[in-house]
Amino acid sequence: MMDRISHRALDDAVYEALKNEPSRPGTYHIVTMGCQMNVRDSEIMAGALERAGLTYESERNKADLILYNTCAVRENAENKALGNVIWLKELKAQRPEILIAVTGCMMQEPGMAERVLRQYPFIDLAFGTHNEQELPALLLKKLQSRRRVVEVWDAPDGIHEDMPERRNSPFQHFVTVMYGCNNFCSYCIVPYVRGRERSRSPEDILDEMKRLQDRGAKEITLLGQNVNSYGGGGDQFARLLRRADELGVERIRFMTSHPKDMSDELISCFGELKHLCPQLHLPVQAGNDRVLKEMNRRYTREKYMGLVEKLRKVCPDIGLTTDIIVGFPTETYGEFRETVDLMETVRYDAAFTFVYSPRPGTKAAAMPDPVSAAEKSRWIQELIAVQQRITGEICAARVGEIVDVLVEGESARGSGSLGGKTPRGHMVNFPGSGELIGKIIPVRIVDTGKNTLRGEYMGPEA
Ligand code: 5AD
Ligand code: SF4
Repeated sequence: MMDRISHRALDDAVYEALKNEPSRPGTYHIVTMGCQMNVRDSEIMAGALERAGLTYESERNKADLILYNTCAVRENAENKALGNVIWLKELKAQRPEILIAVTGCMMQEPGMAERVLRQYPFIDLAFGTHNEQELPALLLKKLQSRRRVVEVWDAPDGIHEDMPERRNSPFQHFVTVMYGCNNFCSYCIVPYVRGRERSRSPEDILDEMKRLQDRGAKEITLLGQNVNSYGGGGDQFARLLRRADELGVERIRFMTSHPKDMSDELISCFGELKHLCPQLHLPVQAGNDRVLKEMNRRYTREKYMGLVEKLRKVCPDIGLTTDIIVGFPTETYGEFRETVDLMETVRYDAAFTFVYSPRPGTKAAAMPDPVSAAEKSRWIQELIAVQQRITGEICAARVGEIVDVLVEGESARGSGSLGGKTPRGHMVNFPGSGELIGKIIPVRIVDTGKNTLRGEYMGPEA
């Protein structure tokens, strides 16, 4: 068990000193890359900065402090972060007083923070995911010393609770249940940059959910790299879900789940719990048993298909989504076709597909990888085309239904058009005005787009 560290008990002196520091930046902007864990971490760092007196600036280039929360899961995520950072050089030439800080998974790679600082002399502050709670102290150190500060911890010192936060939405929230991952899938950098699994106590999680509910939460997504092994595995996560369901928050979701830890107890929750949405993200990664073994996924295609069958039995309308890696080292075209075949059999609502990217320090990065990038790119196009067809068919079958939509905001189409999700996770766009945002309302599906639905609001709130 990891120590529980209450941020409330920490010395207020750092926040006070930062508040009163004459050179303190007035405003901040955070650029968040990567997954939901980073989104949640950014909410906490924003909260800490606000407690220290900074205010949020929505336009990046106008902010006095620009913080990058980076992702390391694939090389192109890193290149994107670096590309962005290089661009800041120009901004800093125009506004030399601004501060540039970098954190996130990329900084947690061995030697990376030092390398980045060496290559990009205009970065002022770098720190890792394990010491993000130190942001106010590090910022103060930077301001007082007028020197660049880099501090990356190898491991976390405990589970931090009672952190300040600035929530992105008033009604739709992430609540982290566990951090890190012990699985060491052979392609994945996450266990290296996020450390070993550690779970929050059920009381801390349920208290946080209750607090959000009291403030109007409509949907809570429980987060973890591998939520199924919450509390050390077994049925602890299912037990937590049952207790969460009793709170009465209208919609509960969770992600991400590892198929090897998907217990019958957890599956049965989809048939029993009133507030658990009929939606599950269940990354399969590949459809061929040899490739799955090389990936160290510890399940077979047959075992995975068995889970899908059981899930659909307890919850026939469940919407499944997945992650797939194309072109894992030594994967052949024939083996790749088994992934396409699995996709056709499962019929996912959506699939996130990635060309394999070698990550330093992982086992797969040392494997021979004879298939060319161009070839892999053709394979993934093939896969995407199949999924698009399936997504289109699944969406088309919804036309005519009346569904409950949690209205998230104006749709990409702009004013007069709203967007929100069904319990199953389908995005629905429909004409309507702003006062519906944050409400769950009945919408009739009238048409489909490529991967969204179009609807009509049926009248007053359900
Ligand atoms: N290359 C490509 N995709 C990867 N993912 C994780 N590591 C890699 C990698 N090295 C994908 C997996 C995972 C998702 C979050 O990112 O599909 O489920
Ligand atoms: Fe990476 Fe595998 Fe852990 Fe997911 S379960 S974070 S893919 S090591």
